[in-house]
This record gives sequence, C-alpha cells and structure tokens, in this order.
Amino acid sequence: MATAFHILFALFLFLILSHNAALQLPPSEQSAVYTLLETIDPSTNWRALYPDDLCLSGPHGLVCDLFITNSSSSSPSVHVTELNFGYVSDFSPNPACNFTSGDSTYLFTLLSSFPFLKKLFFYKCFTAHDSYTTLPLNLFSLLPSTLEELIFIENPSLTGQISLDASSLPLRRLVITGTAISGEIPVLPTTLQELVLSRNQLYGQIQPSISTCTNLKVLDLSYNSLTGSVPEQLSRLVDLLKLDLSFNLLNGRIPIQFSALKKVELLDLSYNQFTGGLPDGLGEMEGLREVYLSGNDKIGGQIPPDIWEKIGSNLIGVGFSSLGLEGNIPASMGVFLKKIHFLALDNNSLEGPVPVQFKWLESTVRQINLEKNRLHGPVPFSPEFVVQMGSKLKLNGNRGLCFVKGNFGVLPVCNETEVPHPVLFTGAGEKKTKGNLGRGKFLLGLVVILLVLDLLHL
Ligand SMILES: *[C@@H]1O[C@H](CO)[C@@H](O)[C@H](O)[C@H]1NC(C)=O
Ligand SMILES: *[C@@H]1O[C@H](CO)[C@@H](O)[C@H](O)[C@H]1NC(C)=O
Ligand SMILES: *[C@@H]1O[C@H](CO)[C@@H](O)[C@H](O)[C@H]1NC(C)=O
Ligand SMILES: *[C@@H]1O[C@H](CO)[C@@H](O)[C@H](O)[C@H]1NC(C)=O
Repeated sequence: MATAFHILFALFLFLILSHNAALQLPPSEQSAVYTLLETIDPSTNWRALYPDDLCLSGPHGLVCDLFITNSSSSSPSVHVTELNFGYVSDFSPNPACNFTSGDSTYLFTLLSSFPFLKKLFFYKCFTAHDSYTTLPLNLFSLLPSTLEELIFIENPSLTGQISLDASSLPLRRLVITGTAISGEIPVLPTTLQELVLSRNQLYGQIQPSISTCTNLKVLDLSYNSLTGSVPEQLSRLVDLLKLDLSFNLLNGRIPIQFSALKKVELLDLSYNQFTGGLPDGLGEMEGLREVYLSGNDKIGGQIPPDIWEKIGSNLIGVGFSSLGLEGNIPASMGVFLKKIHFLALDNNSLEGPVPVQFKWLESTVRQINLEKNRLHGPVPFSPEFVVQMGSKLKLNGNRGLCFVKGNFGVLPVCNETEVPHPVLFTGAGEKKTKGNLGRGKFLLGLVVILLVLDLLHL
C-alpha cells in the first residue's frame, strides 16, 4: 500500500512539474497485464474493472516504478516491476487466482512483456485437487532477465521440474515451497541471498557448486527427498543465518567444517540418515540459537561435553531426540545452557543420572523431554518446577528415575540410599560446587560450635 501510494505521489509531482504529459504504462505492458489477469482468473472482467492506466489505478499486487534514464534524449518512463498474485489477506489483497489449465507455458511466456520486472509472486494460484499444472521446462529462460525475486508459496498442484540453469537471472530470492515440483536443485545465480525450496518433491544430491552462492543467508531445502552426503563446501557460505536440510534422505557425516558457519542461528538437520556421531564442530558455531538434529537414529556416539561452554549461552532450542546417543548426559549442559527454552534428549540410550546441574535450567526452560532412555537416580528438579511444567516435563520410560520427595504420579519416590550426598559435583559444575562446599563448611562449623557449647555446658 505504502509503496503504491509513494509511486502515485511521485507520479503526481512529476506530472505537475513536467510538461511531459504522457507518462503512462506503455501499451504493450498495459495489455500484457490484462491478458495475464484474464489467464489467472477468467471469471473477472478485468478491463471493465480497471479501465484506466493500471499503474495509476490498477489492482493491488501490481507495482510500477518510475525510471529516469541517464541520457537526456529519452524521457522518463513507467514500468511494471512487481506482479503479485493470490489473495494473501485483507492487507495484501492481490488478485485471487485459480489457474486450472494443465500447461502454464502461455502464462509464463506473457512475462517477457515486462522488461523491468523485479518480483513475481504466486500464492495459492495452483491448487486444483484433480489436475496438475506443469511448469515449462525452460521456465528460467522465459522469465525477464531483470527478475530479482521469484516466489511460489502453497501451490500444491504445480508440477514439473526446475532442474535447469537459473544462473543467468539476477535473483536475490528464490522461494518455491509447497508444490509438487520434482527434479534436482537448479544451477543457481551467485546473487542469491535466500533459497527456500522446502516441501517439494526434489531429489538428487546437494551439489558442491551451491557453495558459489556466497551471499546466501537462508538455505532451506527441508521436506524433499534429497540424497547423498552434505558437501563440506557448504561451510563456505559464511553469511548463512539459517540452514535447514531437515526431512530429507541425506546421509554420511555432518561435515566437521560446519564449524566455519559462525553466523548460523538455526541449524536443522533433523530426520535424515546421518551417521558418525555429533560433530565437535558444533561447538564452534558461535551464532547458534537453535540446533535440531533429532531423528537421525544411526548417528550414535555420546553428547560431547565440551561444546556447551562456547555455544551454550545463546542456545534456546536443542533437539537431540532419537539419535542413538549413549553415555551420560554431560553436566556442562546444565551449567552453560543459560537461556534454554526447549531441550529434547528423548528416545536415546542415555544412562546414568540427570546431572544435578539441570536444576539450574529451571529458570528458563519451558519444555524438557528425557523420555525413553536408561537414566536412573533422583530427578534434580524442585517439586514446584515439576508441578508448574506439567506435561512439558517428560521423564517416562526411564526405569531408574525417581523423585526425592513428594509423589508426582509418574515416578516413584527415591529410596533413602539413592538420595545423593550434597558434595557430589565435579567438572563443569565448579561454581556451584564451591557454593555447596561453602554450605558444607558452614554446617561443619555449626556442628563444631554445637559440640563446643555442649562441652562447655558439661
Ligand atoms: C550518466 O551519464 C554520465 C555522463 O554521460 C556518465 O558519466 C555516468 O556514468 C552515467 N551514469 C550512469 C549510471 O549510467
Ligand atoms: C477454480 O476453478 C474451477 C473450475 O475452473 C472451479 O471448479 C473451482 O471451484 C475454482 N476454485 C476456486 C477456489 O475458485
Ligand atoms: C525412537 O527411535 C527409534 C530408532 O532408534 C525410531 O524407530 C522410533 O520411531 C523413535 N520413536 C519415537 C517416538 O520417536
Ligand atoms: C527401592 O528399594 C526397594 C526395596 O529395597 C526396591 O524394591 C525398589 O526397586 C527400590 N526403588 C528404586 C527406585 O530403586
């Protein structure tokens, strides 16, 4: 709305200031917009609804811009720069579209009439239940060579392939999500900053050449059928903020070189077939706020105790469910996860106690899942915390876990012998250990004083 208004205002000013009266959308673009609208929604009489210059009074979603060229010979001109289709909301009421034809070649051929087009957006345009619309094989060569944003969101009946070369387009954003498009990931332009190809039917491997797109900030290939290993060259994408490869069929090791991805805030590799343990390199990814690796049930190995000191204080989400993890839960997780909201370690083979340091998570955590492991011993959480968390604290399926006091229904009360000594802490729990030692000394002092008093009274 704002941009449309600004453009109108700019046009208005310009018309007043200049004697150049005919500042209008070129007839070729005006007529191509009508044809395009009639193609995506034949049931509306677009020419009657918007009879005037479409840049001055056209439908929402059509964005024009004023171009002032450098050469004095040619006068300023107006061109279509954005075409947004599909009603998103009352704030973004683009022309609704309901494209049911099987072949979209004509639709995309029309786009060559817009030599200044920067953005093309389709939301819920291809949604027929009983038929598919196929993308033209040469889609990328039909699109205007000025295109910076190509966006398809929720178009389940859109099919075809996008495996061809897109590298000649100056794309910044390529978002194709929620379609039936298959094939391999296309060859991409190095200008790309955002690549979202989630929830399609893409297959094949992630090519190392993707690492030439060094401007990428968002790489989301989740919910496809991608196979093979993750190329270590992805670690050259040092500006990445989000890396989501979840729900594919990727295998091999998680590249240790990911340690170079210092800016990544969200790393989601969950539900693939990775092996080879959790990489120590995780501990170098200093920007991490959320790390989800769940559902790679053959990863195995132990939870590295040393990675949490560096990255723990930023982390708000850790998903390590169903990884085939063995060994103990490191006490360092309790010490360094100072902002954690979500922590899942369920469905592994973790054994030993829940570290007493986990008591410190109580101040921030909103969900903890330790179900289905081999943990034993007393749960370090306070009764108040357990009550407050309710079903957000999951401990079932650990035969040996017990509560120190009170009965919270799910777990038995610990036997006397299982209640730990106050001074039990080691390693990363240094600070707290001192505190408890202090208390221990205080108690000892008290006992001595009482003994002395006792003696004096004798
Ligand atoms: C505009 O024209 C001047 C002189 O003709 C030239 O030096 C300058 O590079 C041009 N600028 C652009 C953006 O084309
Ligand atoms: C889309 O068009 C088809 C026929 O062309 C019609 O059956 C269907 O109801 C339309 N859907 C919407 C959401 O308008
Ligand atoms: C638990 O992990 C096994 C593999 O280790 C997997 O087959 C199963 O689906 C997982 N269960 C849940 C509830 O995630
Ligand atoms: C506590 O001790 C009783 C008997 O000594 C034993 O049967 C029970 O399994 C123990 N409970 C736990 C949680 O270990």
